[in-house]
Amino acid sequence: MSSTATPKVVLITGTSSGIGLAAAVAAARAGWHTVATLRDPRRADALRKAAAEAGVELDIRQLDVVDEASVAAAVDGVIADHGRLDAVINNAGAGHLGTLENDTVADVRKVMEVNFFGVLNVSKAALPHLRAAGGRLITVTSVGGVVGQPFNEAYCAAKFAVEGYMESLAPVAASVGVSVSVVEPGAVATEFVNNVGLDPEAEIAAAGPYAPALDAYVTRTVAQFLNGAQTQDEAAAAVLEALTAEHAPFRLQTSDWARDFTGMKLKDLDGSAVVETTRTWVA
Ligand SMILES: NC(=O)c1ccc[n+]([C@@H]2O[C@H](COP(=O)([O-])OP(=O)(O)OC[C@H]3O[C@@H](n4cnc5c(N)ncnc54)[C@H](OP(=O)(O)O)[C@@H]3O)[C@@H](O)[C@H]2O)c1
Repeated sequence: MSSTATPKVVLITGTSSGIGLAAAVAAARAGWHTVATLRDPRRADALRKAAAEAGVELDIRQLDVVDEASVAAAVDGVIADHGRLDAVINNAGAGHLGTLENDTVADVRKVMEVNFFGVLNVSKAALPHLRAAGGRLITVTSVGGVVGQPFNEAYCAAKFAVEGYMESLAPVAASVGVSVSVVEPGAVATEFVNNVGLDPEAEIAAAGPYAPALDAYVTRTVAQFLNGAQTQDEAAAAVLEALTAEHAPFRLQTSDWARDFTGMKLKDLDGSAVVETTRTWVA
């Protein structure tokens, strides 16, 4: 992007930490006017520090993805101030550990609320502006949006839901000039696990007949995060690719591990075969 051109505007959700923080800094470094949103702007210290270290400026605003009024205020504010919105990165999300017998339905609804309806709230508010800009709608899902994983029933259901929604939307959005992509990380060293807010020993003690399975799962997952996690910058590189590639594929994995894992299930790893087929249904 030339320094004299009006910069394109990207809005990113959930930038207080992790992949969202790294993607915001990477997008600003790539020349985008970056609207870095947080549900609680008082938690922006790490974001401001990372931006200062990278020598970039961010446009930091409040946005809680589960609060429609907050979403509308943020999107309307961007349009009022900049007159355009070229891309949205739905990054905000939250993990959950549990299983059918031990979760309440309310627990599962809460997981869907953030990871699925939150994405919907932001995407719906943004789409008219993305359409005007010929823009991009990018959502950070997970390998758990393709492959179900133990004790992640609710989280994977929400991420499957997002992937199904976006895969269905992609040909329709393409018919009006908007590109839709999902980005699938595997384990990434962020605040994600801490933010689940669990005491693993207490969870295992309370898991009844599922205690041995949960114990094994927790042991395996801790080892995976200690030994095999990507950095948030590595994961954000795939988000930036979805944002800047001339023709972004529908589906991008953030690592070889994520490609191998989702590849166990996906014949159409980057989603191009599906989207090229369904595009012909609306052409
Ligand atoms: N880390 C991994 O291993 C991993 C793997 C696969 C997929 N992912 C996905 O990657 C995305 C980013 O996660 P991360 O790893 O960077 O974790 P993270 O460090 O916990 O970041 C999650 C971000 O989402 C925000 N958030 C949560 N609820 C929100 C809401 N209602 N409105 C707005 N923001 C909200 C959090 O804000 P607060 O600070 O306010 O809580 C935080 O900024 C998520 O969609 C996650 O599902 C992560």
